[in-house]
Amino acid sequence: LLEPRPSALDLDTFVAHYGNIFEHSPWVAEAAWQQGLNTEHDHPDRLAELMGHMLQQASSDEQIKVIRAHPDLAGKAALAGELTGDSTREQAGAGLDQCSPEELERFERLNAAYQQKFGFPFVIAVKGLDRHAILNAFAERIDNDLATERQTAVEQIIRIARLRLRARADG
Ligand code: GUN
Repeated sequence: LLEPRPSALDLDTFVAHYGNIFEHSPWVAEAAWQQGLNTEHDHPDRLAELMGHMLQQASSDEQIKVIRAHPDLAGKAALAGELTGDSTREQAGAGLDQCSPEELERFERLNAAYQQKFGFPFVIAVKGLDRHAILNAFAERIDNDLATERQTAVEQIIRIARLRLRARADG
């Protein structure tokens, strides 16, 4: 006799749990569920990989919309306390809430120049990085071409998702 799988979630429950793993983009969780992912959700890294495939396989327009759903690092929304819970924790975890006026100005300039060049904000998984490392990565990546930077942002967003799912699993 087969027990019903305790981990199988219906679509609404799955999206209620995981719809915010990709910033303001619940369609990623919904697409993953449609692929039969509802029994994988108790393995955070596996779930991140499979949800990540949904984003990797999306059109470049859809990918860019997800990238654009991210707030600037040390940006105006962060200073105004308007970020999602995850973004607030991630930015504070990297010390971005403690920037000196000079560092804030550097972020402001890089955010503007990056947005001007690529048409979307700079996204990087900040866990384990400090302000110095983030600013170095920022200054390097701004020299990339558009296709490279879109793919890099998608990879970083999947990494952010993995870290968010691990944090959920750790309670
Ligand atoms: N990396 C982790 N969190 C964030 C965020 O809120 N914004 C950006 N741009 N990158 C991030």
